[in-house]
Amino acid sequence: MSGALAGKRIVLGVSGGIAAYKAVELARQLALQGAEIQAALTRSALAFVQSLPFEVLTGRAPISRMFPIEGAAHPGDMPHISLTGRADLIVIAPATANLIGKFAGGIGDDFLSTLLLSARSPVLVVPAMNPRMWSSPAVRENVKKLRERGHLVMEPGVGRMARAEEGEGSGRMPEPEAILAEVLRLLVPPHDLAGMRLVVSAGPTRERWDAVRYLTNRSSGKMGYALAAAAAARGAEVTLVSGPAGLPDPPGLRTVRVESAAEMREAVLAAWKEAHAGIMAAAVSDYRPAQPTERKHKKKDGPLTLKLERTADILAEMGKAKGKRLLVGFAAETGDLTKNAKDKLRRKGLDLIVANLIAGEEDAMGADAATAILIRAGGKEEHFPRLRKDALASAILDRLAEMWQKVKSTK
Ligand code: CTP
Repeated sequence: MSGALAGKRIVLGVSGGIAAYKAVELARQLALQGAEIQAALTRSALAFVQSLPFEVLTGRAPISRMFPIEGAAHPGDMPHISLTGRADLIVIAPATANLIGKFAGGIGDDFLSTLLLSARSPVLVVPAMNPRMWSSPAVRENVKKLRERGHLVMEPGVGRMARAEEGEGSGRMPEPEAILAEVLRLLVPPHDLAGMRLVVSAGPTRERWDAVRYLTNRSSGKMGYALAAAAAARGAEVTLVSGPAGLPDPPGLRTVRVESAAEMREAVLAAWKEAHAGIMAAAVSDYRPAQPTERKHKKKDGPLTLKLERTADILAEMGKAKGKRLLVGFAAETGDLTKNAKDKLRRKGLDLIVANLIAGEEDAMGADAATAILIRAGGKEEHFPRLRKDALASAILDRLAEMWQKVKSTK
């Protein structure tokens, strides 16, 4: 089968809401794109739609119960585990408040919810419910949880609800075309960074004081690594300059490992010479011990004063003579987020700055998720909810790709 989704395996989960009839059309559109689809219908979905249309459109009988086992590939096969091992994507459309709650809470009491517990691929959740349910605190909290875990929860459409007396509101299931577009975006990454040479820095730096001690920070490198890997998947030729982070080299790009701010400066500036764009996600130490020693410092009575000196500001140096190259910086702040970030954007000559809070529950440092504000040189501000760092990385790269198209068209 040809089509943009040829060879892609999709589990289409359908839970019980009136929008379930639209899932039939979604199955048809996914099948037309060549996807290999296994539908899984909950018992309440079967109150709204029949299995047969799914079976005809996908060429496979939908699974709707745990026991006796349905859809086994061979004796002993457990489809709720084996399916998720093979799936490239799981799409839940419609996702009811109940299913979202079970997924967020880790409850598996039927085939679909149990399958979600063993999901390894990304899950695209397409909510459909009454507007009052959608805005209830419980659903808001569950949606937030799922997004932080890296799942994609689409925003429901605004418009007339199924029953006239419910009037208008936010809770309608997005149309199958919009869902298909999202599936294509997830499974067939755009090649919109092709031809771009990109340098990305990540992780903390380590500034040596003596043979065993150094000055560092809590950066994990997760944000920079997510950016580098996603940019490479989108066609960029990436050099990742990484401080000491406990993460493996991402595939498909060049990783340069450094330790101190001085080493990072050297590696980043060397790659920057040939680059079209740079993203400084590293938490570079602003200071280093002024007199590092080879030997271990021996303790003495009384307090010790350690003299620190400034390191070079790599990002500011990159920004100085950047020409048409694109430059993205980060601002990690404990307060006055927007004001401080705007100030850094201007001072360092950036095109875009990613402002992260690093305080309290929203703390981005070391975490898998971050709350961010993206600010452009023109002043445009975009506020993002707390998202997993790979989801945030794609949002940042979407903006970079857009700016890159503009630069290319003015050449
Ligand atoms: N950065 C850099 N070199 C440094 C320090 C920071 O390239 N020596 C980069 C970081 O990678 C980040 C951005 O600058 O992209 C913001 O870093 P931050 O330390 O928050 O900014 P500063 O300008 O040092 O501001 P302040 O200390 O006032 O917060």
